[in-house]
Amino acid sequence: MPEADHEGKTYYTDVPQQGKLFFLKGSNELDWGMKNRLSRIFNPGDGRTVMLAIDHGYFQGPTSGLERIDVSIMPLVPEADVLMCTRGILRTVVPPSVTIPVVMRASGGPSILKELSDEEIAMAMEDCIRLGVCATAIQVFIGGEFESRSVVNMTRLVDAGLRYGIPTLAVTAVGKELVRNAQYFRLATRMCAELGAQYVKTYYVEEGFETVTASCPVPIVIAGGKKQPELDALKMAWNAIDQGAAGVDMGRNIFQSDSPMGMMKAIKAIVHGNETPEKAYDLYQTIKNKGN
Ligand code: 5RP
Repeated sequence: MPEADHEGKTYYTDVPQQGKLFFLKGSNELDWGMKNRLSRIFNPGDGRTVMLAIDHGYFQGPTSGLERIDVSIMPLVPEADVLMCTRGILRTVVPPSVTIPVVMRASGGPSILKELSDEEIAMAMEDCIRLGVCATAIQVFIGGEFESRSVVNMTRLVDAGLRYGIPTLAVTAVGKELVRNAQYFRLATRMCAELGAQYVKTYYVEEGFETVTASCPVPIVIAGGKKQPELDALKMAWNAIDQGAAGVDMGRNIFQSDSPMGMMKAIKAIVHGNETPEKAYDLYQTIKNKGN
């Protein structure tokens, strides 16, 4: 008999094999590869994430703060849990030695000069796999002119992702004409989850945000939206987490700050350290005053 096949107590015949519930809301029935990728996006310790979103160029070109991603953004990347970007930026600017997970912007088409809801899937799943991404992201325009197409595009990306174990982040886009309130975001986030997205990005709303997170059966992360004063952005992040968000996918309120590194660390302190906005703001100011 081979040496490894000895009988004895190492078989623990009296110990039933344990199975654990997966830590992320709504994700227990997913396959191993998908859970493993989600565990790289969301910290298994607290179930939260700080995603740094720098994909804005895919429809608006060199956005303020993103003119030179190599110079201004790369120093922030080691501080983030996840980098959300386009394949163009990944291949041209981000060194392949970067080890944080990448969430890949996989939709596109119209620029800011045209109807934004007129998007298509703009990347093959094969290329996402080639790049080793942990999830894809696609815009969904509920109430937009091309609502149905954007929803169906999302379901196609979900199907492709399920084939290879790659989660889909549905990004609920907001049009100028749409009211941003809890009722709208309940509709948009729930539709994305019902149609298969493994997690959803939305905006924070002052009234009733906890009903948005409660009625969405998968994790929600919030976008930062337009640049606000730093303390206001930190309060928004704190409120969102307090009301059930599983993290942030934040761009402009970090990279357009006068201290992007200060904001990056302050947001992390809130999301992973349960720090108050005021304490996180002190941290931001300390880092800013050191010239970072
Ligand atoms: C662009 C996006 C952005 O990634 C998202 O809006 C996050 O960035 P910001 O915090 O600047 O809103 O999805 O459509």
